[in-house]
Amino acid sequence: MNISRGFIVMGAVYLVVGIVFGSYMGGSGDHSLAPVHAHINLLGFTLMTVFGFGYRMIPGLGDGTLPKVHFWLHQIGAFGLLLGLFLMMSGRVADTTIGPIFPVLEGAILLGAVLWLVGVVRRA
Ligand code: HEM
Ligand code: HEM
Repeated sequence: MNISRGFIVMGAVYLVVGIVFGSYMGGSGDHSLAPVHAHINLLGFTLMTVFGFGYRMIPGLGDGTLPKVHFWLHQIGAFGLLLGLFLMMSGRVADTTIGPIFPVLEGAILLGAVLWLVGVVRRA
């Protein structure tokens, strides 16, 4: 799979979801899930789009296995975190139930970010 394309396409998917979410918040006047909306757009659209353009524009950055590992860590971590945050903040799942899972998902995103750091230090 092309990592750059994967990040850019997934970023665009999160953008559409984030805008729909934001429009619903604006229309309903219920801003209680604003952090979920913000991070769909930031962790989803903004970060994935930056990664996607980075892997395309910086020569050699997308080579090897580490970018693929970064891609999947970020996809799984971001999706899990955003879904978990939505379920918790909307009161569908108790924070005591879902809370212990968050550090694992955050760890996946963080590890992906460290791989990105290693890549840009080497190649940028
Ligand atoms: C048509 C598109 C969008 C609509 C209708 C929308 C709507 C909203 C609304 C209603 C709020 C709550 C404001 C408040 O409670 O004070 C909000 C907050 C926010 N939005 Fe959006 N938004 C849109 C796109 C975006 C995009 C593209 C981004 C980032 C790339 C973004 C980032 C944020 C952030 C960071 C917050 C603050 C969240 C917080 O206070 O916890 N939004 N947005
Ligand atoms: C694993 C990754 C991340 C975690 C665990 C995380 C966690 C948090 C938490 C706990 C808050 C406070 C929410 C509140 O006060 O209700 C917050 C706020 C915020 N985060 Fe993140 N964040 C992450 C990634 C990001 C990224 C990648 C961006 C930007 C590209 C970002 C931008 C923001 C902004 C702008 C706010 C402030 C929103 C506001 O209060 O208006 N975050 N984040």
